[in-house]
Amino acid sequence: MKVFITKRIPDAGIQFLREKGYEVTVRDSLQLISGEELVHGVRGFDGMISMLSDPIDVDVLKEAEKCRVIANYAVGTNNIDIKAANAHGITVTNTPDVLTEATAELAMALLLAASRHVVTADHFVREGKFQGWGPLLFLGKGLDGKTVGIVGMGRIGKAFARMVSGFNANVIYHSRTKKDVAYTFVDFDTLLKESDFISLHLPLAPESHHLYTENEFGKMKNGVVFLNTSRGPIVREKDLVNALKSGKIAFAGLDVYEFEPEITKELKAMANTVLLPHIGSATEKARNDMAILAAGNVDAVLRGEAPLTAVQVK
Ligand code: GLV
Ligand code: GLV
Repeated sequence: MKVFITKRIPDAGIQFLREKGYEVTVRDSLQLISGEELVHGVRGFDGMISMLSDPIDVDVLKEAEKCRVIANYAVGTNNIDIKAANAHGITVTNTPDVLTEATAELAMALLLAASRHVVTADHFVREGKFQGWGPLLFLGKGLDGKTVGIVGMGRIGKAFARMVSGFNANVIYHSRTKKDVAYTFVDFDTLLKESDFISLHLPLAPESHHLYTENEFGKMKNGVVFLNTSRGPIVREKDLVNALKSGKIAFAGLDVYEFEPEITKELKAMANTVLLPHIGSATEKARNDMAILAAGNVDAVLRGEAPLTAVQVK
């Protein structure tokens, strides 16, 4: 049986499939994939490992012939029309758990980097501007005793809550349902009003598209730190730039963008941001484990067994 992988993943996943006798084709390009190539995938291959940047929509899926499983190499699956896939007999899977700690760690790195000027201060040093210790040099915002508002208390939100708690911060959270955790559940507006730091850990869905606009930024504390390691379109980026300009948001740390991989020149011009290229899960271990899990999902479905981590339509 034939498996198509839309970008090169760690060898462990490819080896896993080859050892089981699958004929594996890896598309060796970092360029965004075309609709035509995706159609070729669902027509000619029994299974696919797809990337979060592959838009697998109704137009692609209506061309499906052989394909029985699409294993997304990500925990988020907003790039796939799961209902349409299921209607064509295709099981969709994702890679939960194995990337939880890596993604929460990157949110932590962004929090510290953005709120303590780590990147701009590094540039300052390299540019030869450091003339000596200064009482007012690069003052930032610390976590000690502050309130961190976490939006989305899934696996990643929980891991991030545990990490910021170690920095002596008080955690409040909002999510669709109250979770069995030791942190304080608050309504959406209370989280906006009371948080000194806000970090997004929820999936992109119709309900969360543009959840953060000028209206929500307006309700936040002056000088809040805003972090997004989930999905870009949850935030209306134009309004985020305005909030950064006015000082309503003191610092933002972003790993994802509304028009990814495009980043607007207005956002890039803001010095009070740290901007990363969607590397939340990018540790060697997480990416390796994701490869093995995605390959395991493909193999399970193609052998007629239950997938390891299927994504259900909500
Ligand atoms: C990354 O953004 C993922 O969904 O795995
Ligand atoms: C999910 O989306 C997570 O938090 O793992």
